Amino acid sequence: MGMGYVGITTALLFAELGWKVTGLDPDHNKIKSLKQGILPFHEPGVDDLLSRHVNLDNLTFSADPQHSIINNQIIFICVGTPSQYDGSANLSYIKQAATWIGTYMEQESCIVTKSTVPIGTNKRIVQWIKVAQVNSIPYDVVSNPEFLREGSALRDSLEPDRIVIGSNSEHSVNLVSSLYVKLNRPIIVTKPETAEMIKYASNAFLATKISFINELARLCDLVEINITDVAKAMGMDHRIGPHFLNAGIGYGGSCFPKDVNALLYTANDYASPLSLLKKVAEINNTQSLFFLERLEQQLSGFENKTIAVLGIAFKPNTDDIRESPSLKIIAHLLRKQATVQAHDPVARLPGDLSSDRLIQCSTMEDALEQADAVILCTEWDEYLNANWEKFRANMRDKYFLDGRNALDRELLTNIGFHYLSISNY
Ligand code: UGA
Repeated sequence: MGMGYVGITTALLFAELGWKVTGLDPDHNKIKSLKQGILPFHEPGVDDLLSRHVNLDNLTFSADPQHSIINNQIIFICVGTPSQYDGSANLSYIKQAATWIGTYMEQESCIVTKSTVPIGTNKRIVQWIKVAQVNSIPYDVVSNPEFLREGSALRDSLEPDRIVIGSNSEHSVNLVSSLYVKLNRPIIVTKPETAEMIKYASNAFLATKISFINELARLCDLVEINITDVAKAMGMDHRIGPHFLNAGIGYGGSCFPKDVNALLYTANDYASPLSLLKKVAEINNTQSLFFLERLEQQLSGFENKTIAVLGIAFKPNTDDIRESPSLKIIAHLLRKQATVQAHDPVARLPGDLSSDRLIQCSTMEDALEQADAVILCTEWDEYLNANWEKFRANMRDKYFLDGRNALDRELLTNIGFHYLSISNY
């Protein structure tokens, strides 16, 4: 249930593992596209898998909840849980899914929650199903959080570090485990609330690593220390690990900002505030503007300057722009009266950012044309492998803010750029 990132990838994973799968979503247009093998988002590998499975008979797509629920014994809830104005997770799609399940279920079923849901939600799903049931049919609700990343969704699904199954029923644990048996990956069995917490704790910890290195980068910037060297040596300590220590303009996407806020909300609800995590969010909210100021100083202000912004997506290999740091940077530049020439290999600017000083360029070359400065926001391969010497020639001035520490300082300096970065000396 729910043909978003997680739902489609999960449906394809199970089809690939040999199970018979129905992908359900009430959005008729989405279902129509999926039936034609068209993925509603950019995700390398998942597109090929869809076109392969759409022609086989073990995967179907449907907009009809009744038909889909009646014909499947195991139902995965993969709907969105977006942030509400107060930071809490909006559970209305989950409640709708549970209500449909209760209303249409005709046989004993196992309901599996893959959506990221606050602690205690699985218990609420049990209740929502019960309330909607016409006849009393047995069912169990299992928590099975998802850990895939956008941009590498297929690999993460086929090779998960762990599979977490939260259930108090041995039968359900065995049933859900059996679905994944071919993957041969470690399975952790917990009670449902623990599984819910593991998901939030994992995202919150990764966000904490990023904000830790980002705040440290601000200090390193003042004392001219290379944060990349610091992170590399830190990461060689196996107790720390090298991942998620890349300093940059901050984390974005549909998960970290939302899940950090939802966990903070839950903690406050239980009067047990998570002060460290609160700081993690604060650092992230100010990170991009901190380093943007460095560029502003160099340019003696952004007013009437033309800035090329490379990368709109929140990370490479996706067209997802939700909470992308790039959007915050563009909005700031527009407020400061700059002209912005933005480019992304696949992502599009959102409608609410429209301005006559903002242009989405179809090529990187157009974005850099007569620009005073370039800001690299997303480390797409196209930017990393660009012929910067050639591009530099068409720019009016030569300032470069590498917001992902993804390029070679020496190389860019040697070809005449004034290279600024997130403390990448
Ligand atoms: C994240 C988690 O990594 C997944 O495990 C989880 O399943 C997913 O959220 C989710 O809850 O659905 P995702 O948001 O797709 O995945 O992407 P990440 O690769 O985690 O990147 C998130 C943000 O952090 C990006 O903006 C990225 O640029 C930034 N980042 C990442 C850094 O700034 N520095 C790093 O070292 C790593």
